[in-house]
Amino acid sequence: MKINQTFSLNTKIIFNPGSLNELSKLQGETALIISDKILEEIGYVKTIKGYLAEAGLTSHVFTDVRPDPDTKILADGLKIIQEIKPDVLVAMGGGSAIDAAKGIFYSAHQMLGDAFQRPYFVAIPTTSGTGSEVTDFSVITAEGDKIVLVNDYMAPDLAILDSDCVASAPRKVVIDTGMDVLTHATEAYVANDATDFTDALAEKAIRLLFENLLLIAEDINNEVARDHVHNASCMAGIAFNQAGLGINHSLAHAIGGTLHLAHGRCNALLLEEVIAFNGELEKSANNHAAKRYAKLAELLGLPARTVREGLVSYIDAIKKLKKQLGIESGFADLGIEADTYQAAIEKMAEAAMMDRCTPVNPIKPAKEELIKIYKKVY
Ligand SMILES: NC(=O)c1ccc[n+]([C@@H]2O[C@H](COP(=O)([O-])OP(=O)(O)OC[C@H]3O[C@@H](n4cnc5c(N)ncnc54)[C@H](O)[C@@H]3O)[C@@H](O)[C@H]2O)c1
Ligand SMILES: [Zn+2]
Repeated sequence: MKINQTFSLNTKIIFNPGSLNELSKLQGETALIISDKILEEIGYVKTIKGYLAEAGLTSHVFTDVRPDPDTKILADGLKIIQEIKPDVLVAMGGGSAIDAAKGIFYSAHQMLGDAFQRPYFVAIPTTSGTGSEVTDFSVITAEGDKIVLVNDYMAPDLAILDSDCVASAPRKVVIDTGMDVLTHATEAYVANDATDFTDALAEKAIRLLFENLLLIAEDINNEVARDHVHNASCMAGIAFNQAGLGINHSLAHAIGGTLHLAHGRCNALLLEEVIAFNGELEKSANNHAAKRYAKLAELLGLPARTVREGLVSYIDAIKKLKKQLGIESGFADLGIEADTYQAAIEKMAEAAMMDRCTPVNPIKPAKEELIKIYKKVY
């Protein structure tokens, strides 16, 4: 057993519908809001500005973030943050906006050192997905590859979970990001650095997901279910921030970056094959990971009299959920040409091997095994 393990959370979390008004209690003179054009058009940026004005803050806005933010966005944001020197940085959006904000002020810190005054960092997620509002992670695309930055300097000081902000999300985004949450919690549960503390959060997140994701995919105005999924997203984020993720994310980063596919959808397509691989379904189905997946099946009230039965039950439950959500069964169904896919596999597997999520996977994979997973999920 490892000794002296730590569980810490650097972020204060304020939650419940309507909690956006907490912004009116912030202190400082100047704020920088980082978001994207879609959220600005919906009116969220205006609302935030209003609350910040109540707090006596003058707001500046940077809404050039696009999905899967790249180094160009970081460079543009860097100029603005250096110019404005905000006391408060508010990132509002999905993982892309929050990760971009993290990358921007982390770059400023790296470039300027102590000459850069770290702003009070507030993250407001508008997807129930990445958990970026509580993590030390930022995923940035550099020359077509997704790079995972990890540093607790980037952990938000405050996360505001106002599930009303998710009500405008399109159905596809709700499904993709919800499956991202399920992947975070599942990977955190079997990751090498999982502890009783991270397990508690992962288990709760998985339960909430299975009980509520379908409900909000059918009706995003179901406020109770929407709130549960939003909380689950944050819980899964706390869990994986400490426990780590695994090859599901490594494979998803590589394919998402290469073929420009939504992060959550990539995770969803890979999930059963990664579980089967980690749980050694084609072998004894009795290793540590298999027992953990079987435990999840048991928690969900699924048949799990043996480890193999539990493992199969968990995989089947995910399959069923995906079918109900209308998720494709492979990348071919997303319109990816066989030639394009085949030509990219080797390089994607190499990138996945190097990904920061790979070392905590319960099984150390060989490149050929990752190639096999990609082939199975086509
Ligand atoms: N930092 C982390 O810990 C972490 C973890 C997992 C994934 N990621 C990264 O996060 C990114 C994905 O983030 P995401 O899945 O949240 O999607 P996203 O931020 O890319 O958003 C997807 C689309 O949905 C729109 N959108 C978001 N919220 C909306 C709302 N409430 N109403 C209407 N439209 C809305 C956005 O404008 C965008 O067009 C990827 O780059 C992924 O690699 C980061
Ligand atoms: Zn993810």
